[in-house]
Amino acid sequence: MTDDSSRLSGFHRLDRAARLARVKEICGLEDELAGSLEAAGAPLRAVADHLVENVIGTMNVPLGIATNLIVDGEDLLVPMATEESSVIAAVCNGARQCRASGGVTTETTGPLMIGQIQITGVADPVGARAAILEARAEIEAAAAAVDPLLVELGGGLRDLEVRILDDLPETVIVHLVVDTRDAMGANAVNSMAEAVAPRLAELAGGRVALRILSNLADRRLVRARARWPIDEIGGAEVRDAIVEAGRFALADPYRATTHNKGIMNGVSAVVLATGNDTRAVEAGAHAFAARGGGYTALTRWRASAEGDLEGALEMPLAVGIVGGATKLHPTARAALRIMGIDSADRLTRIAGAVGLVQNFAALKALATVGIQRGHMTLHAKNVALMAGARGDEVERVAALLVERGEVRVDVAEAVLRDMRGEG
Ligand code: MEV
Repeated sequence: MTDDSSRLSGFHRLDRAARLARVKEICGLEDELAGSLEAAGAPLRAVADHLVENVIGTMNVPLGIATNLIVDGEDLLVPMATEESSVIAAVCNGARQCRASGGVTTETTGPLMIGQIQITGVADPVGARAAILEARAEIEAAAAAVDPLLVELGGGLRDLEVRILDDLPETVIVHLVVDTRDAMGANAVNSMAEAVAPRLAELAGGRVALRILSNLADRRLVRARARWPIDEIGGAEVRDAIVEAGRFALADPYRATTHNKGIMNGVSAVVLATGNDTRAVEAGAHAFAARGGGYTALTRWRASAEGDLEGALEMPLAVGIVGGATKLHPTARAALRIMGIDSADRLTRIAGAVGLVQNFAALKALATVGIQRGHMTLHAKNVALMAGARGDEVERVAALLVERGEVRVDVAEAVLRDMRGEG
């Protein structure tokens, strides 16, 4: 950002073109990238054929900007791609309320991904494990030869593990622990696993079965924490209600699933905006939430020593900035530019911070006025659009629906007919 503040007061009241112009100016976005945002799905047509097969069009979702965020001391604007109303507004609100205490601080464990190689038909799994571990130097050399560029950039194989699972007789599972640097890593890890698997099977005296990355990226964790001053959130009662809501999610998998879904509203919107694999991140997050045998929350909430509200999030988050859609998709490139991202690590931290703030906003709404009030205003606009409202009719019809407490398409159609004098 060329400005030092993400505090864009009144941003939501500008029209789309004015918002884009503002982001372009603040972030120094090039004409080409700003133009690609302006023309919505059109630029993707040129690359869509290179991304997937049998292309007939593109499916666009809105891309919005989360304002007010400070992550590790840096003010930034965060693009979020989501079809769900209220998600972006919630982050803007939640982030504003922790600005006074410095925003969100994060840490990461580093970009370590696991590649799994399943070797079957192993008569002596314990002996196989010893043979594989003794050949570590040889496997390391073979793995390095698969991706010399990754090694040059400081990445590559970091560890070799051999697992024997009770439920899988005559089988060993080899884990390649790979530092994938700025890549999400699926390609690098899968290539490495396929390259070294035959030698591993030979050492184990078995046959090669599966060779694939694990999406349980529990060596690639992000931790985010923030403090919401009690005066910013509406007092001790609100704080205690949020802490209580957090406890509910820790204790009950039914609640934890929805709680974590809310976190992923934020995380996945950033992951999608940057052309990363939302399914990989979602799968990893939910598996991590169940790592203790029961499914639980990805965040924890408590009162701080000073009486403020403190939240902490921990989850796996495997994203990259160098491969596939992140490089080819013009919207993803624009999103990375808007955030000034120069490493996968930074993107990981920002997505984690958004997840924490999103969770705060959801819990605050749920524990106080309920979720429907905020939702309804935006939902009413969707309903007005569905009923055929256009231009300024959308706001007017939506306002009437909310006022009447009847946010339904049939009611919107009737309101619209009245408004147009068609009744
Ligand atoms: C809705 O998309 C997300 C929430 O249900 C999250 C939550 O319940 O914590 C509001």
